[in-house]
Amino acid sequence: MKLDGKIAIITGAATGIGSATAKLFAKEGARVIIADINDKEGNETVKAIEKAAGNSLFIHVDVAKMAELENMIKIVQDAYGGLDIFYHNAGIAGPGNLENTAEKDYDISMAINLKAGFFGAKYAAPLIKKSGGGSILFTSSSSGIHPSPAGSPSYSVAKAGLIMLTRALALSLAKDNIRVNCICPGPIVTTPLWPDFVSRNPGVNPDDLTKTIVEQTVPLKRPGTPEEMAQAALFLVSPENSYISGIFLPVDGGSSAR
Ligand SMILES: NC(=O)c1ccc[n+]([C@@H]2O[C@H](COP(=O)([O-])OP(=O)(O)OC[C@H]3O[C@@H](n4cnc5c(N)ncnc54)[C@H](O)[C@@H]3O)[C@@H](O)[C@H]2O)c1
Repeated sequence: MKLDGKIAIITGAATGIGSATAKLFAKEGARVIIADINDKEGNETVKAIEKAAGNSLFIHVDVAKMAELENMIKIVQDAYGGLDIFYHNAGIAGPGNLENTAEKDYDISMAINLKAGFFGAKYAAPLIKKSGGGSILFTSSSSGIHPSPAGSPSYSVAKAGLIMLTRALALSLAKDNIRVNCICPGPIVTTPLWPDFVSRNPGVNPDDLTKTIVEQTVPLKRPGTPEEMAQAALFLVSPENSYISGIFLPVDGGSSAR
C-alpha cells in the first residue's frame, strides 16, 4: 500500500474530489481525517471508509475560520501524535463576473479557497516536520492557469494564488523534508460545486455552458471524475514520488495543452 500508516488531513472531503481522495488514501493504508462543514456527508464518507476496513475520523471545521484550522491540528496531534499529509481541497465556486462580485463574496472566496491553504499549511507544517517530513497538497484549478470568460475572476485569482503558494512553500519547507504540490482539475461536473460554478452569471444557461466548456475546452471531450483527481492527488503525496515538489499538475483532459 502506497500510504501505509500515514496520517492525512483532507479539507473539503465530505463530497466530490475530497471524498473520493479520502477513500483512495484510506484504501492505500492512510488514516484519513475528513475536515469539513458538511457533517452529514462528512460522516458518510467516514462510514464508507470504515465499511471498506479503512480508518477515518470526521472533524467539523469551517476553513474560513483560521482558529478552527489551528484547533483541527491540535485535535490531530492529540489523537494521532503526528501528521504526514495536509491536503487543502475545500473550495467554493466564485460569485460570478466582476459586476456580480460584492466585497463579501470576494472575501469569502479568498478565505476558503486561498487563505485556508496558507494558514492550514502554517499550522500543519510543524507537525509534519515533527513526523520527519511529508506532503502538503492543494486543489487549485485549470481556472487558476487559464481564466475563463464565463468564470469568476475572484475564483481564478484565488486558485492562481494557490499555485504560487505551492511554489513558495516548496522552497521554504524543503529544509523540513516537506514536499508541496497542487493539482489543477478541469471540469468535474458531478460534484456539488459544479452547478454553482455554471449558474452564477445571469442570462447564461448552465447546461449550455457545461456543454460548451467540455466540448470547446477539453481535448478528450468529456468531463473528469472525482476518482481521476484522487489518483493524481495520490501520485503527488506518495512517498515513492519523493523528488516531486513545487509543481502544479493539470488534470484536465488536455485543456492546458491548448
Ligand atoms: N468541480 C470542478 O469542476 C472543479 C474544477 C477545478 C477545481 N475544483 C476544486 O476542487 C475542490 C473540490 O471541489 P468539488 O468539485 O469536489 O466540489 P464539492 O462541493 O464536492 O467539494 C467542496 C467541499 O468543500 C467543503 N467546504 C466548502 N466550504 C467549506 C468551509 N468553509 N469549510 C470546510 N469545508 C468547506 C464542502 O462541504 C465540500 O465537501 C474545490 O477546491 C474546487 O474549487 C473543482
